[in-house]
Amino acid sequence: MKDIYSAIKVTDNVYWVGAIDWTIRDFHGYTTPHGSTYNAYLVMADDITLIDTVKAPFMDEMLSRIKSVIEPSKIKYIVSNHSEMDHSGCLPEVIDFIKPQKVFASTVGVKTLKELFHDKHEIIPVKDGETLSLGNMELTFMETRMIHWPDSMFTYLTKDELLFSQDAFGMHRATFERFADEIPAATLEYEGATYYANIVLPYSAIVLKTLEKVAAAGLKIKIIAPDHGPIWRKDIGWIIDLYKKWALQKPTAKAVVVYAAMWRSTEKMARAISEALAQAGVKVRLMSMNEVHRSEVVYELLDAGALIVGSPTLNNNILPQMADVMTYLKGLKPVNKIGAAFGSYGWSGESVKHLEAILKEMKVDVVAESVAVKNNPGIDVLEKCHELGKTIAAELQKRSIS
Ligand code: FEO
Repeated sequence: MKDIYSAIKVTDNVYWVGAIDWTIRDFHGYTTPHGSTYNAYLVMADDITLIDTVKAPFMDEMLSRIKSVIEPSKIKYIVSNHSEMDHSGCLPEVIDFIKPQKVFASTVGVKTLKELFHDKHEIIPVKDGETLSLGNMELTFMETRMIHWPDSMFTYLTKDELLFSQDAFGMHRATFERFADEIPAATLEYEGATYYANIVLPYSAIVLKTLEKVAAAGLKIKIIAPDHGPIWRKDIGWIIDLYKKWALQKPTAKAVVVYAAMWRSTEKMARAISEALAQAGVKVRLMSMNEVHRSEVVYELLDAGALIVGSPTLNNNILPQMADVMTYLKGLKPVNKIGAAFGSYGWSGESVKHLEAILKEMKVDVVAESVAVKNNPGIDVLEKCHELGKTIAAELQKRSIS
């Protein structure tokens, strides 16, 4: 393996020694059509330090990249910024192989790694703000609890003004380009927003506080090195500003109409609602859960001001495709949305009430009366759907930013 993989130089002192996963297509429910990377970094200080490891099946790739720079046994310290197994899966084996003097994690990280691996190795807890001397350089640890696990922390390399940010500022995209400035901005924005919406969204309030904390600390950041996707080394204010925007979730004049259909009655309603929204100048995303993945819905919802959901009634309930996406959206806790529900039924007709209840649990402000129809919508019902769209559009235009 030694001669196959190479480390990539990030600075004079830091190398990327991670792994590229070209084939992963599902990340606990988040579809990853372009694969991912698991980034690990080698800090070539007097006391050589490895920041994070990789998912277990990729250990040899990481070790091969390390060997292109140094013998792995020369690594003195390992820092685990995040215990999730895409970054720690091979940690016990790597410790056995490298035999570092010390391994560090946050206080919660120490417990989490113990609970995950039931492993004999000692992991030393580090506190928020604690520093670790590497001889000619210094690392500072910063707890970032719930971005996006309780154990999560950042590590800052003062000498290079480089922030190892674990999952934050990451994205799932397998590429040979290791730096964001080698990838088109539109791709970065799409993949970054998709990642934010599917992973970080529920913790948006903590993201804003953390960004404030970093600014208040006067931390100079020249480079952000996340655990997935490209490294940010130019114009890092661009991705930081996007994080602020995504975290604030200010609603725009955009509506996401999500539905699933059995015999197209609910689809006809969805189309009538969408047409009215578009006629009123609202940007519309019409998404059929028979065809679309839940990850795309939450991406579209990130900057939207309205969520309108439709389902026929199946066995006194909503269609399973709608239950899937509603469960996913509810868990991701989007904020600042208005909405409404609609749907068709054959006899009992509970779907609309179920959808309304979920919207309310999600704290979506239901601003239009729901529309339900028995069997197939005629022109009268389609007109009601059109009215529903107009009501949402009028409300959205009052509440949204341009
Ligand atoms: Fe990339 Fe939360 O692990």
